[in-house]
Amino acid sequence: MTTLSGDNPSACLARIIDDLAEHGWSLQPLFIPPTLTLDLAEECHRRAAAGALVPASVGRGTLVVVSEGVRGDRIQWLETGQDAACDQYLTIMDGLRQALNQGLYLGLEDFESHFALYPPGAFYLKHLDRFRDNDRRTVSVVLYLNQDWQAEQGGALRLYLVDGETFDVLPQAGSLLVFLSAQMPHEVLPATRERLSLTGWFRRRGDGLF
Ligand code: OGA
Ligand code: MN
Repeated sequence: MTTLSGDNPSACLARIIDDLAEHGWSLQPLFIPPTLTLDLAEECHRRAAAGALVPASVGRGTLVVVSEGVRGDRIQWLETGQDAACDQYLTIMDGLRQALNQGLYLGLEDFESHFALYPPGAFYLKHLDRFRDNDRRTVSVVLYLNQDWQAEQGGALRLYLVDGETFDVLPQAGSLLVFLSAQMPHEVLPATRERLSLTGWFRRRGDGLF
């Protein structure tokens, strides 16, 4: 795969598979080529300026509510064929999906993803990425799009690890965080600057109910 950055893309995929099997999460600091990260950030800003990002909702089905007390980001779901950079990102993610299926037999069938923009001060309280009434979301992936992020600007994604420790991931451009959706509680801490990401989920086949 030529679209992944780094000297050895298949070694990067192998590291993600090993990390997930061993710890339930993996952080790859330079997963996406820097030019693609820049293009994706630009596309996110374009959509924000066009008013296409809308307040994210919480819950599912009859319980969907917009709740700024829980999460303050604005989002737009990706679709193929809208933008070259987004299509390239989706192609890379499909390569990751296939690698996860080969390495971990997860039976991941599809991928859903949205841009997310957190204005300064916005946060997302501690949560799991799995809906109570639907367990299709299996692996979460977050790609960060923010150049030159400094720790003192806040905005970390705080992962709650199985051993009771926490690990803070800075939303640095090009970093990809991958984790098992059902097992890793996490939260987004408020930042002093705008924070962009592409958040997505690999999903298993549904049971026909949804
Ligand atoms: C989410 C989420 C994390 C982030 O959208 O479910 O946890 O760092 N996002 O943007
Ligand atoms: Mn989440």
